[in-house]
Amino acid sequence: METYTGIPDELRLAVLERIKPDEAERTKLLEIQNELAGEVRAGAEKLGVSGILVKMVGSAARGTWLSGTHDIDVFISFPEETSRMDLEVQGMAIAREVAKHAEYAEDRHAEHPYLNVVFKGFDVDLVPCFRVASACCIKSAVDRTPFHNDFVKARINGCEDDVLLLKQFMRGSGVYGSELRTQGFSGYLTELLIIHYGSFENAVLAACSWKPGEKIDVMQHGEIKHEEPLIMVDPTDPRRNVAAALSLDKFCMFIDSCREFLKGPEIRFFFPPLLLPLEDSEILERLESRKSTQLAIIFKTPDVVEDVLYPQLYKMEQSTAALLKEYDFSILKTGVWSGKDETVIMLELISGTLPRVKKHIGPPVWVRMHAEKFKEKYEGSENVFRGYIENGKYVFEILRKYPLAKGLLENQLMHCSVGKHVCHSVNESFEILENAEICRLKDSDFRIFLRKWV
Ligand code: UTP
Ligand code: MN
Repeated sequence: METYTGIPDELRLAVLERIKPDEAERTKLLEIQNELAGEVRAGAEKLGVSGILVKMVGSAARGTWLSGTHDIDVFISFPEETSRMDLEVQGMAIAREVAKHAEYAEDRHAEHPYLNVVFKGFDVDLVPCFRVASACCIKSAVDRTPFHNDFVKARINGCEDDVLLLKQFMRGSGVYGSELRTQGFSGYLTELLIIHYGSFENAVLAACSWKPGEKIDVMQHGEIKHEEPLIMVDPTDPRRNVAAALSLDKFCMFIDSCREFLKGPEIRFFFPPLLLPLEDSEILERLESRKSTQLAIIFKTPDVVEDVLYPQLYKMEQSTAALLKEYDFSILKTGVWSGKDETVIMLELISGTLPRVKKHIGPPVWVRMHAEKFKEKYEGSENVFRGYIENGKYVFEILRKYPLAKGLLENQLMHCSVGKHVCHSVNESFEILENAEICRLKDSDFRIFLRKWV
């Protein structure tokens, strides 16, 4: 193994130049946060709600946001003894008061309701929470967040740049974001990695030798066993794994990126070159050189948030693959792409056609009752080519019901198990494109997806 000489200073600086908020951006963000805090207090006062505290949380409050990402998390914290009902009603009422001064507002639902607004160009979440005594006795899932904030703020001092570098490196590798769509690293997890390893370089170096089951317990207080690939015991809650949303593949993609980066630290790891949409002619060329079968199942994108949509799409990806396998098709890979209007499940098969004859294996001849029934059913019936005995079992060569993968999907897709919203959309209508027909899909983001696909 070659000796590691560290990340060049020029590279570090060149990346930071593009991602580190400058003084003007900092001042502006602080100003907006102060204004928002004022609006929340004014709203509470106007509504006669007392006892609330305003807490700024998230990367904007910790000095670890990437320049240009404009999200602010404002927590409206209620005394612990407040009832859930009061918290929801009063919290949302205060949030709506603030929203009167915003350009846009939208009700959102996590475990309990919160309001997402655009305030002076910033994407702001107004989240009611309980002010509990400790993160291990929360009353609602969001109650932990203020504790995360206190923990990170107390320890991140001086390492903010390293957090930014690691976040951007993860973005460049496609593994940043803990939403169900990405199943990658959250902002808080990234901060904890820096706190644990001390620097961007050390974190990258350490990750090169990670294995599934890697456990980090900054406070040495973990209480339960976790099965996920990475276990980052929450310093504020000994029972929670901060990396619970991280999938095995994203975990491994990160390890791979770290190793590649150390072989040749270059700016492209942080800012990968933009991929161009695949042209029709390129699609045809690549199909011709691969000689596999491409199938695209297309339907209208259900109008639900991504955290609801993607798990359903991943489920559909699995269940269509299982259906094809059940009918003897061999799958090379599957994928999901979803745009504003249309959603596509992509399937690449070794072949989309199978012979008309299918080998149907029955019971061993000596299992008398079953064997006789089986033979009776197939012998001499139509759609049977012939029968014989092989390895002690009756075998009949019969006519295959679905020699075409496309035909199978057209007939059986409705019976695949998929989530509620996707099911609704597929039932309304869907279309299956095969090979060159995929050129029908013009969306440039889909064409970029295709470039990675083939
Ligand atoms: P954000 O998703 O906005 O993350 O959640 P962030 O830390 O601000 O990072 P970036 O820079 O915007 O990407 C805000 C806070 O909510 C809690 C964390 O405490 C986080 O800092 N949170 C969020 C979680 O605990 N888990 C999650 O999966 C998401
Ligand atoms: Mn944030």
